[in-house]
Amino acid sequence: MKTLREFGRRLNQKLARRLEDPGWLRWSLRLAWISFVFLAVTAVACCFSYLFLPVSQHLPINIWVFLMIVAALRLLCLALGQLHDRAGRKALDAQSAERHFSWALRMTPGDPDIYCHWGRRLMVGSASESDRQRARDLFERAQHLQPADDLPYVELAYLELQQGNWREASRGFDMAYRLRRGVAWNDLPERIPNETPAAPIVQAIDTSVSKLNHDAQQLNFLIQGNYLPQRFKPLMQAYQELLRETLGQGRGQGHGPNLHLSADQQARIHYCYGRNVLIAPVPEFPREVLNPDFDFEAAEAAYLAGEPQLVVIDQMLQPDACEALLHFCQKSTIWHDDQRPGGYLGAYMDDGFSCDLLYQIAHDLRDAMPGVFKGLPLKHMWAYKYDSRREGIGIHADGASVNVNFWITPDSANLAPETGGLLIYPERAPEDWNFHDYNQDTQKAEAAVAGKEPIRVSYAQNRAVIFDSRLFHATDKFHFRDEYLLRRINITLLYGS
Ligand SMILES: [Fe+2]
Repeated sequence: MKTLREFGRRLNQKLARRLEDPGWLRWSLRLAWISFVFLAVTAVACCFSYLFLPVSQHLPINIWVFLMIVAALRLLCLALGQLHDRAGRKALDAQSAERHFSWALRMTPGDPDIYCHWGRRLMVGSASESDRQRARDLFERAQHLQPADDLPYVELAYLELQQGNWREASRGFDMAYRLRRGVAWNDLPERIPNETPAAPIVQAIDTSVSKLNHDAQQLNFLIQGNYLPQRFKPLMQAYQELLRETLGQGRGQGHGPNLHLSADQQARIHYCYGRNVLIAPVPEFPREVLNPDFDFEAAEAAYLAGEPQLVVIDQMLQPDACEALLHFCQKSTIWHDDQRPGGYLGAYMDDGFSCDLLYQIAHDLRDAMPGVFKGLPLKHMWAYKYDSRREGIGIHADGASVNVNFWITPDSANLAPETGGLLIYPERAPEDWNFHDYNQDTQKAEAAVAGKEPIRVSYAQNRAVIFDSRLFHATDKFHFRDEYLLRRINITLLYGS
């Protein structure tokens, strides 16, 4: 049974990859429509002959074959709904997207995901006010159809963010996170959604030694600090035991999520793995969070005159704001992205990395340097937490206009003070490159910057680098102390429409 499920999952992944190709998608749609029309005509003819013609002229189809035709029609409806949904997401013009989404909903009425995808498509590019209102209606309809689904909350939160309503966005992301990952041990009543989320589907865990090690260290820190009660101790021990076992077998070596856990191993940690166990969000500060002594006007002028556009800001935040963010990152069990090579874990705005202080910083920074950010909304934010000594993130550019990168771990953690920061290349990603080209295809990015000398910004706590997001950049080599509280953490804020 398990093998069959695994086979189905692999087949599905393979099919999804194929359908990324527009040619394949077009032909699949045609084939599905031809089959649908053929079966529909057969079913109607069959009904007609049974109802209106004498027995001698009935079509030679017995009731079982007829039922199979009806079942096949239902399956084709689902397939057509999915194919049109995919085609709508990929459509280049708004009209064609609208046509595809309308068909997707005719074939699978009431599918909340289709409403969400349609709304998201309306927000692509410079969406008009009426497009945004339509998107909002679609998201709200999806929310109404499936109140315990996190996706409509996420989409509505992104819409709020685009409209500059960060407090509403923050509430939306909070709600979505709890619907997806459960309610934390220490959650405040106002953060708990009314809807009961569906039980998480237990999937095969492909993780990494880095993730197991991080979670074991984090649980230890939380229990030792009394942030979690002693009853979590067996869970921490299960992590430690699993880690010892894995390392003893020589498994999970190298980088990336190459550690496949057995059902028994999964069962030992599934109360914690991928769940919202503890969260320590920082509220909005009732005063300024940016360093009042820093000359942001001069930094703005330097950025605008620079070629490439880049500026370094030391002590960007008030020390207690930086400290508060560090505590949020160390205490919260939000480090769910373990699918990246290079020994680092990710936490994203729409998956736990969201607290009012972060939005306040993003908002205040935009106000402090209006010429740099040009009123652009915050588009995304995330944080990465690293092992003490690994390779970090390869050369890439990000899909936004302005990128703010800053570090929050104390300088004493950095054993090689000249490094540990960011390498920024004086080369922008070409305009005709798509997201995959400039963000995922490291070899292509490396070729684009070949022979170019990067600007090295060394690591410092509370140091920010603000730069044109299309500039290629990479994590510099780093060597930090091997302690949980001294892990390198960098935060990225992306601004753009
Ligand atoms: Fe980046």
